Amino acid sequence: MRRMVAEHRLHPADLILPAFVREGISAPVPISAMPGVVQHTRDTLRKAAVEAVEAGVAGIMLFGVPEDEKKDALGTAGTDPDGILQLAIRDVRAEVGDDLVIMSDLCLDEYTDHGHCGVLDADGRVDNDATLERYAEMAQVQADAGVHTVGPSGMMDGQVGVVRDALDQTGHEDVSILAYTAKYSSAFYGPFREAVGSSLQGDRKTYQQDPANLRESLRELALDLDEGADMVMVKPALPYLDVLAKIADSVDVPVAAYQISGEYAMVEAAAEKGWIDRDKAILEALTGIKRAGADMILTYWATEVAQGL
Ligand code: PBG
Repeated sequence: MRRMVAEHRLHPADLILPAFVREGISAPVPISAMPGVVQHTRDTLRKAAVEAVEAGVAGIMLFGVPEDEKKDALGTAGTDPDGILQLAIRDVRAEVGDDLVIMSDLCLDEYTDHGHCGVLDADGRVDNDATLERYAEMAQVQADAGVHTVGPSGMMDGQVGVVRDALDQTGHEDVSILAYTAKYSSAFYGPFREAVGSSLQGDRKTYQQDPANLRESLRELALDLDEGADMVMVKPALPYLDVLAKIADSVDVPVAAYQISGEYAMVEAAAEKGWIDRDKAILEALTGIKRAGADMILTYWATEVAQGL
């Protein structure tokens, strides 16, 4: 009876797998703060993509981890046509074609030596407009590599419009934009820093949102839609279900939620100690995110959960 009357149901096609691919390694490297998640080699990434397709997962969100000595102030490796993320996009596209929506993180923090999502001005502050020029270049190289959807995640003002223009001007009208619309300055990103080998100097409070604010998200939403976002996202997920519900209620585009690294780590750590039932906790969290209004959920458990469904 409960099954019959359930108001919400998870489906493999709701799920998107975030995946890390690291340059210059010959075997996958485990991420200690995210048990079960690895930095992939180019080869194991291809296998993970095939596994995701076979499980019915809808999409994959790719993050590149360049070699340490390739990080610099401008995040040059992020716009190198042969940079690790661009190679990974080509690999995955060659392996699974259009069986998976191939998405890419469009941000500089994986590639900068200071760990910020943008380039810095003379005073060491993130320079919004100089960063937009870098994002336009990133959009082009990622699209040239064959990505279906770019995910601008740096929270610079005007990023969606600049990325849309760059895509349109370079013949990539068909590449869509998943906008990180309501992205909060969150402690729950902690394990991600290890995942992409980033040591952030300072914090992201000058560009990511204050957890205290809800109205600000609606303003970001209006701007992103106006600039051409095809899909919008709330991130993190669980501490921001009210934001997710409000946004899902007020738009006519698909809405995504990102269950981030810290949300993953909390469940795995508590389960390892025998304090919670891991599998039930995972499904409960994902169902809650769906109930709040997410059409798609980015989760590091995507393949496992899809297989179970
Ligand atoms: C920015 C980016 C971050 C995450 C996804 N894209 C880090 C940040 O903004 O601080 C976090 C994802 C996670 O924690 O799982 N490139």
